[in-house]
Formats: sequence, C-alpha cells, structure tokens
Amino acid sequence: MKYLFANWKMYLDHAESMALIEAVKALSIPQDVELAVFPNFLSIPSVAWAIQGSTVHLGAQNCAWVSRGAYTGAVSAEMVRGVGCEYVLAGHSERRHIFGETDTAVRQKVEASLAAGLKPVICIGETKEEKDAGKREARLAEQLASVFEDLSFASGQIFVAYEPVWAIGTGDACDPQDADDVHGWIASEIKKYTAVVVPILYGGSVDAKNVASYTTQPMIAGVLVGGASTKADSLAEMLSAIAA
Ligand code: PGA
Repeated sequence: MKYLFANWKMYLDHAESMALIEAVKALSIPQDVELAVFPNFLSIPSVAWAIQGSTVHLGAQNCAWVSRGAYTGAVSAEMVRGVGCEYVLAGHSERRHIFGETDTAVRQKVEASLAAGLKPVICIGETKEEKDAGKREARLAEQLASVFEDLSFASGQIFVAYEPVWAIGTGDACDPQDADDVHGWIASEIKKYTAVVVPILYGGSVDAKNVASYTTQPMIAGVLVGGASTKADSLAEMLSAIAA
C-alpha cells in the first residue's frame, strides 16, 4: 500500500472543496493506493458526507490538545473525530513556523489525537539553515524524540511525514535518493523508541511529474502533497503514476 495524502491547506474555499471532492470521487483509485484528503475545517463535515461509500479517506489539518473548554478558535481532536475524520496532521511546518507551534505542543496534539481515535500524521523537517549548518539529523532527532519518547501506540495508528521546510511550496523538491536515505535514518531513529513500524511519507513540492521517483524508493511509504493535490487532473495523474 502506498499513501497519497492531499493537504488542501487554506487553498480552497467551501464551494471549491466540494467541487474538488466530487471530481475526486469520480477518479478510479488504484487498489494499492490509499488517498486521503485534508480539507479546511469548515468543509470537513460536507466532505465526510460526500465521500460516504467511496474509498476516499479523510483527515483534518490540525487539532487542539484539549478536548473541550474555553479555547477560543480551537477545534479538538475529539470534535475532528466526531465528524468522521480518520487522520490529523500534527506539527505541519506551517503550523510550527507561522503559528509558533512547539515540539511540546505537537506531542500534546499527538496524545490527544490517539486518545480520540485519530491517526496523527506527524510532520517533521529541517529548515535550509539547519541543513546548511549540518544540523539536519539533530533537528529531526529532536522532533522525533519529543513525539516518540514513552508514547504508546499500536501499528497503523501513527504516520510520520518527512517534509524538509525548504522543499515545501518552493518547487525545490528533495532529491529522491537523498529523501530515501533520510527516511531510512528516520526509521532507525524511531526504532529507538518503539518496535512498531511507522509508515514514513515524503512531502515538499511533490507533483505528477516527480511523484513516482519518491514512491518507488524502498523507504518511502507515500507522499503528502500540498499545491499539486488541489486539482483533480493532477491528483488523477499522481494516482496512476504511483500505481504504475
Ligand atoms: P507542497 O506542500 O506540496 O505544496 O510543497 C506540501 C505540504 O506542505 O504538505
């Protein structure tokens, strides 16, 4: 099984999200590919309704770490689960860098998600400065340690997405061989904390042209795609490239 996770970010309004999900439902999704869409919060209930009876999976882009209370503007993992989401992104680079989410907050969100029965997709990645300074592994190790230390979970409950910050939305995709090496390193790092095998996705400027160069790598379980996942024709091309 290879995963194609479509992070629609804040690219699409409600009408556009609904038009896209209708187009996505009409695509033939190969049996060995799992497609999950991550719409904006407001569109999640309608998308959940629209995908009933299809093989499309659903996730949210974020959640709060507490289940209820005086947290203006927040949406809890429980609430996300309650309207039919299976997945939730945790610690996406834009949440970390634009909204100031810390490693500690990401850990709390992962715990809340697991408790709510959601599968967190933990996003990790180094900045260009960290990479250039030879600190890539150190930063990734830090992000992994804060999430995985003493965390209990079962197989299939957690995903990791390696998304180098410098590759997100820039067109400067990570070299596939380099990404595969990093994935191998991440897998061995995760083994320090758990015997459970965690699927690791690559994200950052993936599109229809380069997607297969990632999904054919042995350590890459799938892709988390932003910009190129917001159009039905490019989703269709990526699905067939992954299945080929
Ligand atoms: P991108 O975004 O595909 O537009 O680079 C990936 C992501 O942020 O998940």
